[in-house]
Amino acid sequence: MDSARTHTSPSDDVPPTAPTGRALATEAVHAGRDDLAALGLHAPPIDLSTTYPSYDSRGEAARIDAFAATGAEPEGPPVYGRLGNPTVARFETALARLEGTEAAVAFASGMAALSAVLLVRGSMGLRHVVAVRPLYGCSDHLLTAGLLGSEVTWTDPAGVADALRPDTGLVLVESPANPTLAEVDLRAVAHACGSVPLLVDNTFATPVLQRPAEHGARLVLHSATKYLGGHGDVLAGVVACDEEFAGRLRQVRFATGGVLHPLAGYLLLRGLSTLPVRVRAASANAAELAGRLAADPRVARVHYPRIGGAMVSFEVHGDPHEVIGGVRLITPAVSLGSVDTLIQHPASISHRIVDAADRRGAGVGDRLLRLSVGLEDVDDLWADLDRALGERTASDAIPQREALSRVE
Ligand SMILES: Cc1ncc(COP(=O)(O)O)c(C=O)c1O
Repeated sequence: MDSARTHTSPSDDVPPTAPTGRALATEAVHAGRDDLAALGLHAPPIDLSTTYPSYDSRGEAARIDAFAATGAEPEGPPVYGRLGNPTVARFETALARLEGTEAAVAFASGMAALSAVLLVRGSMGLRHVVAVRPLYGCSDHLLTAGLLGSEVTWTDPAGVADALRPDTGLVLVESPANPTLAEVDLRAVAHACGSVPLLVDNTFATPVLQRPAEHGARLVLHSATKYLGGHGDVLAGVVACDEEFAGRLRQVRFATGGVLHPLAGYLLLRGLSTLPVRVRAASANAAELAGRLAADPRVARVHYPRIGGAMVSFEVHGDPHEVIGGVRLITPAVSLGSVDTLIQHPASISHRIVDAADRRGAGVGDRLLRLSVGLEDVDDLWADLDRALGERTASDAIPQREALSRVE
C-alpha cells in the first residue's frame, strides 16, 4: 500500500524528453503545428475534402505510381481522401514525435490499426503471430479466431524466442496489459524477437510514461480512442513506426479503407496537447485510489503497475456486479482514458469475447473490476467507490499488506 502512495513514475523525477531534444510537454503542444504561424493561423485548419482538384492528370498518375511503389505520402495535396488527409497528417506527425518514431499512420479505430498490421505481414507470407496474454479482448479474439488469416501462438514473455517460426511476422504484447495491468520487460522481449517486429500496444501507458520504440519495439500501437483523444468523443487508432513500415500501412489503409475522419484527426491533435497534464493528474488520483482500495477489507487484491498510470484493477470479495450497479459519480461503461472515471467488469464486457478458460488463465478473474481513473477530486471518487463497495462484513478481513500487487 505504501509503495502505491509514494510511487514515482519516471515522469515525476525527470521531465521526459522527446527524441527531438525538446521536452515531451513542449512537443505535445507544438508538434504537428510547426507551419501554422507561417500560414497566419493559430488553430490547425480542418480539411474535410474527400477529393482534390488537379488539371495535371499526368502528374497525378506519377504521384499514384510513387505511392503504389513505396507508400510514401504523396507530395503536395492528396489525390483522394483515402490516400491521406492534411489534418490527420498533423496528428500523425505529432504522435510520431511523442513516440520517437519516424512516422505514424492513423486509422478509424485501434482494431483497424491492428488489422492493418496483420494484413501487412500476412501479405508478405508471414502469417504467424506470437502473442502474450492478456491482450484487450477484441485483439485476443482477432488473433484467436484467425479472422484475417493469421495463426497465433500464445506464450509468456520468457517463451517468445522459442515460439518464433520461419513464418512468424509479428510479436504482440500489451504493457501494462488490459485489464490485469501486467507489465512486460520490453527490452528483453525485443531482444528475444530478433528480426521479427515487436508490436507494443502502448494504449495504457501513453508516451508520457513509456516509449516502447526506445526499448526496441518496431511498432507502437494505440487505441487513440483512449488517452490520446482523452475526452471519450473520438474513435481512432494509430501505429507509430519507421517510414518503411508506415508506407506499407498507408498502402493497406488505401486499399482497405480504414481511414480516420479529419474531424477526429483534429480532436486527437488537440487531445495530445493536454496529454502529459492529463496523464500525470489522473495517475496521481489512480495511485491514491490504489492505496485506499488495498487497505480496504472488501477488496481482495489491487493491481497497479510499477510504471504508474491512470488504470487500477481490483478484485472484490463480494459481487462485482453490485459494485457496477452501485456507482453514481463514476460511469459504469467500457473504454478508458477519458477525463471522467469509468468502471467496468472485464469478464462481462471488454474480455467477454475471449473463451472463459483462456480469460481466467490470463488472470482475468470473474471478480476483477477495471477502473479508468479520471480528473475528478479523489475524495469524491473514493466516496462513490466506498458506497458502491457496499457494507463491510466480518469475512472481509484479510492481511492488508499483501493486498496491493505490482506486476513485474
Ligand atoms: C489496449 C487496447 N488496444 C486496442 C483496443 C482497440 O481499440 P478501439 O476500440 O479504438 O478499436 C482497445 C480498446 O479498448 C484497448 O484497450
